[in-house]
Amino acid sequence: MLKLAMFDTKGYDRAAFEARLAGRDVEIKFFEPNLSCDTVALCAGYDCVIPFVNDRLDADVIECIARMGVKLIALRCAGYNNVDLDAARAAGITVMRVPAYSPYAIAEHAMAMLLTIVRRTHKAYIRTRDYNFSLNGMVGFDLHGKTVGVVGTGRIGRVFIDICRGFGMHVIAYDAYPAADAGIEYVSKEELLSRSDIISLHCPLTKDTYHMVDEAALSTMKKGVVIVNTSRGALIDAEALLNAIKRRHVGAACLDVYEEEGDFFFEDFSGHILDDDVLSRLISMPNVLVTGHQAFLTEEALDNIASTTLDNVRDFFAGVKNGNEII
Ligand code: NAI
Repeated sequence: MLKLAMFDTKGYDRAAFEARLAGRDVEIKFFEPNLSCDTVALCAGYDCVIPFVNDRLDADVIECIARMGVKLIALRCAGYNNVDLDAARAAGITVMRVPAYSPYAIAEHAMAMLLTIVRRTHKAYIRTRDYNFSLNGMVGFDLHGKTVGVVGTGRIGRVFIDICRGFGMHVIAYDAYPAADAGIEYVSKEELLSRSDIISLHCPLTKDTYHMVDEAALSTMKKGVVIVNTSRGALIDAEALLNAIKRRHVGAACLDVYEEEGDFFFEDFSGHILDDDVLSRLISMPNVLVTGHQAFLTEEALDNIASTTLDNVRDFFAGVKNGNEII
């Protein structure tokens, strides 16, 4: 029986994986802590580790798990910027992922955030619970007719484009590898930044995309632009974004991800003093909506994550390549 060690496990992860275990020759140990140098000792005796987005598989961790006999890193997410792939290659460990578990979950969350910030429904929810039916400060704007710039037209970006078209928005897009047959109006990154009323990020975090929204990029955007990031936090220089919001250049921001989220997201810090001034200040802004890396969290996505991860494990140990290998 294969022994799997899952990290950063929450109740909903465990429920989804347990529901998919029947008939599989595996045993999973569900660890709550993140996988890092501090917790790597827990991997002893396991064939495979199952990390999530904020587990840190740097070279030290990978060397340790290789010495312990771990053969497979079966990521239960799409992004893999948290894994040192060179170190994994050198250690002879295969890395697999779940490339697509529900692009709808993330694209729909991006639109939910956009609608919320534009129509102030988050404010209305709080006001009406206090029987405050005043509409002062609640003026929004129509999405219909606005130009939305989509960065990254892969699985999630394309679903988001379809949703935006349903709202009657004009869609332009930038992708480093544009799809020829997609019927999408591609423009340069510079043109996208300067023409868009709304910008939504759907590209991976790489060396090329790190801080793609920095002070220089922000200064070329339209005054009042709304920025939506459901991709990876480090696509945006958060301090530069905060400054652009403070000088009223950026109209609003919807952030499901944050560069330093690994220290906070997925945990309850209510009652604590948050040790991150930029995040605290962003959250305090009336025109910033933060969700804690929640975009993936639908029943359908959790079920697909569990079944694909377990299929990846089965196929790897059976010597079958299924296309979900990163290296
Ligand atoms: P995908 O691989 O289908 O599409 C990514 C697109 O980005 C591709 O079309 C690619 O050509 C493009 N791209 C690559 N480098 C680029 C660059 N330098 N500039 C512009 N475009 C570039 O990926 P998918 O499934 O659409 O996911 C996108 C991202 O969403 C993931 O990388 C991940 O970081 C994030 N994500 C966030 C989740 C959440 O819960 N918030 C859940 C799942 C994914």
